[in-house]
Amino acid sequence: MLLLAIETSCDETSAAIVRDGVVLANVVSSQIQLHAEYGGVVPELATREHLRNFLPVARAALREAHVTPAELDAVAATRGPGLPNALMIGFKAAQAAAFALRRPFLGVHHHEAHLYSPWVSSGPSGLRADFAAFEPNVSLIVSGGHTMLVHVRAEFDHTVLGSTLDDAAGECFDKTAKLIGLPYPGGPEMDRLAARGNPRAFDFPRPLLREENNDFSFAGLKTSVRYFLQKNPALLDDAQKLRDLCASVQAAIVETLVTKTLRAAKRLRVRCLTASGGVTCNSALRRDLASACEQARLKLRLAERPLCTDNAAMVGILTERKLLRSPAGTDLDAEIEPGWDLAQAR
Ligand code: KG4
Ligand code: ZN
Repeated sequence: MLLLAIETSCDETSAAIVRDGVVLANVVSSQIQLHAEYGGVVPELATREHLRNFLPVARAALREAHVTPAELDAVAATRGPGLPNALMIGFKAAQAAAFALRRPFLGVHHHEAHLYSPWVSSGPSGLRADFAAFEPNVSLIVSGGHTMLVHVRAEFDHTVLGSTLDDAAGECFDKTAKLIGLPYPGGPEMDRLAARGNPRAFDFPRPLLREENNDFSFAGLKTSVRYFLQKNPALLDDAQKLRDLCASVQAAIVETLVTKTLRAAKRLRVRCLTASGGVTCNSALRRDLASACEQARLKLRLAERPLCTDNAAMVGILTERKLLRSPAGTDLDAEIEPGWDLAQAR
C-alpha cells in the first residue's frame, strides 16, 4: 500500500510517503522562525504559511520517494485536534487530492498519530515501523500544545489517563525561557544552557507530583519563576546563575513528567513506556526516563528526535495500520475536528 500523508495541525507543514511500514519520504517545513518574533504561534500567520508551503512540501515528498500521484493507493491527513484554519489547509487539500485521484481518504487523530512515532526507527534502509516489538504501553505525549498520558492496551485500544490542567510542558519551557530573555522556542535553548547548570541550585515547585492522579499542571511553575526573577533581577546578568536557573526549571519539569509517567506504568502493571512530542527532544527528559526505566526494568521507546516534533510520517504509519484493518477510507466528506477527543477517534 502506497500512501500520501499530510500534517498541518499547528506550525509544521509536512507530507510523507509511506509504503508497507517504510517511510519513503518525510518532508517537514517548520515555521519556527516565522513565529519567533511574536514569541509563540500566531494562528493567522500559520494558516498563510501552510497555504504557501503545502504544494512545495507535497511535491518534494513525492519527488524524494520517486512516486507519482497516480501510483498512490490512498491519501490521509490530520483531522484534529489543532488550529482550525491550519488543519483546514492540509485536510481539505488532501481530500481534494484523494477525490481527484479517486482514492480512499482517511482523516486521523493527531495524538493517535503521536502514539506511533516511538515505533518508527531509522535503519540502513531509512525509517521503518517496528510493530513486531509492539507491547502494551503507557505513552507520554509532551509538546508545546499538549501534555498527556495515554494507556495503550493494544493498537486502536487506548485511554487518556490524564493531561495538563493548564499549560503544556513545552509551553512552560517557552514561557519561562521568555522571562529569562531567551529566544523562542525556549525549550531547546533552556536544554542547551541547562547542560552546564546545577539543577539543585534553586528549588521550584513540582506541581501535582504528590497527587495520585495522572494530571499535570505547569502554570504555577511558570509563575513561581516570574516571582523568583522579580526578587532576584541581578541573577540574569550572571551567566553561570542563568545556567543554574535553566537547569533548576528543567529539573522541576522533567522530574514531574518522569515520576508521573513511571507511576502510571507501575499502577497499570504495564512493562513498556513510550514518549513523543517536541519536549521529548529534551536531553534531561530522555536521560532521566532511560535511567528510571532501567531501574524499574521497564522497556522504553523514545521517538527519535526528528520524529518527536510534528510530522506526517506518524500520520502515514497510523493510516496504513488503519487501512490494513479496514480498507474503506471513508472520510472524503468529513470535516476537520479542531477539538477532537482521542476517545472519539475510532
Ligand atoms: O511537537 P512540537 O513541535 O509542537 C507543538 O508545539 O505542539 O513541540 C514544540 C515544543 C516547544 O514548546 C519547544 O520548546 C519544545 O517542544 N522543545 C523542547 C526541546 N525541543 C523542543 N523543550 C525542551 N527541550 C528541548 N530540547
Ligand atoms: Zn503534536
